[in-house]
Amino acid sequence: MKVEPTERLTKDTLNIDAREVEALIQAPPMDIPPYEPAMVKLKDGSTMLIRAAKFEEAPMMLEYVGKVMKVDHDYYDIVGSRIYSEILGWLRKRLKDPYTLVGLIDGLWVGFANGRLYNEDISISLHSMALKRGLRIGAIMYYAKAQYAFDILGQKEWWATYESPNGWMRWGLGMAQPSYPWPEYQHELGGARVFYMKKDYWDRVIRKYLLDLVKADLERPVPDELLKKNDKMRVPEEILV
Ligand SMILES: CC(C)(COP(=O)(O)OP(=O)(O)OC[C@H]1O[C@@H](n2cnc3c(N)ncnc32)[C@H](O)[C@@H]1OP(=O)(O)O)[C@@H](O)C(=O)NCCC(=O)NCCS
Repeated sequence: MKVEPTERLTKDTLNIDAREVEALIQAPPMDIPPYEPAMVKLKDGSTMLIRAAKFEEAPMMLEYVGKVMKVDHDYYDIVGSRIYSEILGWLRKRLKDPYTLVGLIDGLWVGFANGRLYNEDISISLHSMALKRGLRIGAIMYYAKAQYAFDILGQKEWWATYESPNGWMRWGLGMAQPSYPWPEYQHELGGARVFYMKKDYWDRVIRKYLLDLVKADLERPVPDELLKKNDKMRVPEEILV
């Protein structure tokens, strides 16, 4: 786009340092506390560690999610594609204040959940995914990110939307989340309904969701030995879903 300057310029071409442009197009990060790792007992007796994904793990995650995107059942394709772009958005700094959590069993990547801070009050729930089925891993990952938003980040509201019936069943229905009027309110994921939770509802009702559903809670602190076991993440050799 070109608009005539309103004063004569002695030099009418500007050379711009790309780093100056980057400063404008990147969202300056807020100062947020890190995710403290948590552990949870799964129904097959194994222990899943939940921790923040590391930057250097992003390329490996992208490669694996690239395969998940090709799964054509249970909406793994659309959710996989979104997650691919969100991991890339985190890596390339094209998401505002994202948090990216992974669920690991003995270092094996089995669960994913992410979100981002819209502002100081509202967290946007992006996606949750079980990379291994039947252990309620997805349910746990979603709870873990909401707990982080409310209890650690001090957020007042949680805005989610559902791109699969399984997701809606787990949390829209499972957490009895109300929705804002549509189309007045639209979630950034495709403009669908915003399902929400407020802090008071989290405290009074949802805090015990995991205990009710999984019969186990997130536990902290995590012993060093378990942290060590899950320090190095590896992706499954094949698609397990
Ligand atoms: C939605 C999702 C995260 C829920 O994960 P989850 O809580 O670990 O639960 P699962 O999907 O494995 O299973 C759901 C239920 O169906 C059963 N089930 C469904 N498909 C299954 C399968 N292929 N193998 C084993 N169990 C299966 C489970 O036993 C479980 O029963 P339960 O309610 O008694 O626990 C997961 O289905 C997923 O990743 N889907 C694709 C991505 C997606 O839709 N994400 C949410 C976007 S809104």
